[in-house]
Amino acid sequence: MSSLPTSDPPAANQPRLTMTRRQFLTSTGASLVVGGVAGSLLTRFLPGGQAQTLATYPKIQIAHLSDLQVGKPIAFDYPLKGQSSYLIQLGTPALDGIGPHGDIVAFSTICVHMGCALAGRYKNEQKVLGPCPCHLSTYDLALAGKPTIGVATENLPQIELTLDSEGMIVAEGVWGLIYGFESNLMPGNVRTS
Ligand code: FES
Repeated sequence: MSSLPTSDPPAANQPRLTMTRRQFLTSTGASLVVGGVAGSLLTRFLPGGQAQTLATYPKIQIAHLSDLQVGKPIAFDYPLKGQSSYLIQLGTPALDGIGPHGDIVAFSTICVHMGCALAGRYKNEQKVLGPCPCHLSTYDLALAGKPTIGVATENLPQIELTLDSEGMIVAEGVWGLIYGFESNLMPGNVRTS
């Protein structure tokens, strides 16, 4: 994982803690890379080095700000149908969190170690998802999904969120590779609504 400082100025109503932008580059074989930046693209690098765009992440409205309660996850699939994720208002500022308090984040609930389900295992006191029922990995959702306990060595994939002018929370990318997929956009059916 690499951490990149953002070039975007923070919104006036968001704490600076939320402004760290991260980019995960995950290679599968020699040819596929998933970029986790705004306007995320799935890019294939052809022999000779040319980049070919294959698909883009869909922009999907997940919920309205008024739907959220601190510590109460909202389940949704993203970017493919069946890729289970949680939208959560943590109640404390988080890396890449959005909203008035920078505390709204979303993560895959598929454990990056071997793919076991983490749904139902959010603990708001510690802001963690886990322990995983299979090998106990636990992920800190305030720290970009960093594993804090257990055997996982990768961060839990974080869903890139934005807030539109109506207060809708929109998913528009993923940082990190979701377990069990060639990329975050294949194989499977991309959500369109
Ligand atoms: S599958 Fe979650 S820790 Fe192994």
